[in-house]
This record gives sequence, C-alpha cells and structure tokens, in this order.
Amino acid sequence: MVASQLSQPERTSRHAAGAKGATNGRKSADEVREDVKEYYGRIIQTKEDLQTSACCTEEKFPSYVKPLAGMVADEVASKFFGCDFCVPNVLENTSVLDLGSGSGFDCFIISQLVGETGRVVGVDMTDSQVELANKYTQWHADRFGFEKSNVTFHKGYIEKLDELGLDDASFDVVVSNCVLNLSPDKEAVLTEAYRVLRTGGEMYFSDVYALRRVPDNLKDDPVLRGECISGALYWNDFITLARKVGFTDPRVVQSEPYFVDDSLMDKLDGTEFVSTTFRLFKVSNLEATIEDYGQAVKYKGSIFSAPAQLVFDRDNIFEAGAVVPVSRNTFRMLRASRFRSHFDFYGCCSKKHFGPFPRSQPITI
Ligand SMILES: C[S@@+](CC[C@H](N)C(=O)[O-])C[C@H]1O[C@@H](n2cnc3c(N)ncnc32)[C@H](O)[C@@H]1O
Repeated sequence: MVASQLSQPERTSRHAAGAKGATNGRKSADEVREDVKEYYGRIIQTKEDLQTSACCTEEKFPSYVKPLAGMVADEVASKFFGCDFCVPNVLENTSVLDLGSGSGFDCFIISQLVGETGRVVGVDMTDSQVELANKYTQWHADRFGFEKSNVTFHKGYIEKLDELGLDDASFDVVVSNCVLNLSPDKEAVLTEAYRVLRTGGEMYFSDVYALRRVPDNLKDDPVLRGECISGALYWNDFITLARKVGFTDPRVVQSEPYFVDDSLMDKLDGTEFVSTTFRLFKVSNLEATIEDYGQAVKYKGSIFSAPAQLVFDRDNIFEAGAVVPVSRNTFRMLRASRFRSHFDFYGCCSKKHFGPFPRSQPITI
C-alpha cells in the first residue's frame, strides 16, 4: 500500500495520532474516534442493536471454550461485540493484551486460560465499556477461585499504548476482536502491537476486511464506521501494512462472509466484506516468500484444547503424531514461539534450498 492510497486520517502518523483537524474535508482522527466512542458508548447497547453479522455467537466457540464463556457475567456477555472467536491455543501462564477490549468478554475467557500466574490486559477508549469491565474484574476473580485478579483494564487508545506504560516486549500474545477497522490510524496500532510483543510472540486477531477498497466518501459515515464496515481495510492493503511494521508472513486462520443489513448495503455500491482471523508472528528471520528447506515437524498432540488436530492456519493443520513437511517460515514460527514444546522438529540445521514450498499459494481471503 502506498501512502496516496490511504485517506487522510488513515495516513496520520503514530506521533500525530491525536492531531485535530482534517485537511481534506474529511473527519480528523480525533473526530473519528469520538464517533466510535459515541457508537459503542451510547448508541449500541446490546448485540441486537447491530446492523451486521458483527457479532460472533457463542455457538461458534470451540467446545472447550463454551464452559469458560458460561462463567462470564451476563451483563458483560450482553455487550460482547466481537466478530469472531479470537482466542488462540497454548495460553497457560502467558501475558495477553486485548486491543479494544470492550466489556471484557474475551479478557475474562482468556483470564481462565492463562490461569492465576498469567496476566491479561485490556485497553479500550470508551468510558462505559471500561467501567463495566472494571466493575466485574474482582467478581470474575472470585468466580474463578483466584486469590487476586489477573486482569487489568486501561482506558486509552490502542494507537498509543506507550502512553499507558505498556513496555516493549512485555506480552506473549496480542488479541483483538473487531477493532482495528475502527481505528483511524491502523499503522500505529500494528506498530504498537509489534513493539509490545516479545520475540516469538504473536498477534492473533479477528477483524472485518473489504474485498475491494472502500471509497473515501463512506469512511466518515458514523454508522458505517461504527458497524465495522467503512473503516475496514481492503485485505491486500492489510497484508502490505502488516509486513511494513515487521509482521513479515501474515497467516489466515479462517475467513467467512460478513453480512450487512440491506439498509446499509445500498450505500456500499457492491463492496463485500469478510470476517477474518489472522495470526502475525514477531519472529525476526521470517522471509516474505514461503520457501522449502526440506524441513518437517510432528505435532505431539499435547495441547489440551487440540488433542487430535491443531489448526495452525488455513494451510497448516497438524494431525497429532504425523510428520509433515513445512516451509522454513512455519518451522521458524513454531520453533520460536510457545508452540515449541508441542512439536518435534526435523531438519533444524537444513541449509539446502528446494525452491518455493510446494503448498505455497498467494494469500487470499
Ligand atoms: C466492535 S467493539 C468490540 C469490543 C470487544 N473486542 C468485543 O469483542 O466485545 C469495538 C471496541 O473497540 C473500541 N475501540 C475502537 N477504536 C479504539 C481505539 N482507537 N482505541 C481504543 N479503543 C478503541 C471501542 O470503544 C469498542 O469498545
């Protein structure tokens, strides 16, 4: 993506993320954020108020998550506005940051998965959402039988995590559910996510993407923005942006159509949308292309939430006990991350190149 393809507020640099005043008749970044706060603070009270398939219903959760979701307070669950399930495997003892944590629904599920020795931090800019999440923090700790809560919520902007005192390399995983599209400065959000991740960590998140670039004149419509439509990136522009900030090899975990009510569809001139979960590893020696070095891995079946099969991404589904060839990038992601102890690795020192990895294909969603 080149700068000229981005609308003015989307072009705002990280350090000017709060700058007021648009220069091209478009809303400033601050005005866009105020619209979104109004939408999630006042206009949308429950999922039923949304005009899209924005909300991921609990039927979509994997079976191991359903009982954990059932532990979350009804009032918090009623304000869950995520577009998918964005909780990855292997979270025991990890530190997890949730960008745009809303009422805290995902955080309270993750709290149970990281356990009492793990840590969960949620960041959201909307007062009422943060207040609700805070109101239930100790309530959930008591419910989970924790001596002390492992969840903290900060009111603030996901473009400016440094202002919240969130240090470099201080998280194992960054999650986010239906939020990046709402930000007027997506590059700042991804740059900050990359900064706070430890090496070997990953951003695992669900969001809405457009199948073609959304016209600028729709981006300031507060309803289309609030419904996670008009701020959505064209997916190929997202890939470019992710690579630019250091996430060299974005992986699609799953993707499905994102349905918009007819009343909004008329304005969209045929643009279609998808809800997609990406995983972006912060591993320094990944390549932009998928290459074959004759390496293979065997999944041990040792992850409690995936005993028979681990869906790592759409192209890498590991059956327990099977030795399967992988690209050097996949090999490195698994070996550098919290997945390491769950795999056997073959060909660690392989230097012989066999050309492009056979299953490599262009990323599409
Ligand atoms: C669609 S809701 C999703 C909330 C939550 N992730 C969930 O799954 O229920 C979007 C949330 O992102 C927050 N948000 C949007 N843009 C933000 C920004 N730039 N900084 C902080 N929070 C933001 C909103 O306040 C809102 O609570």
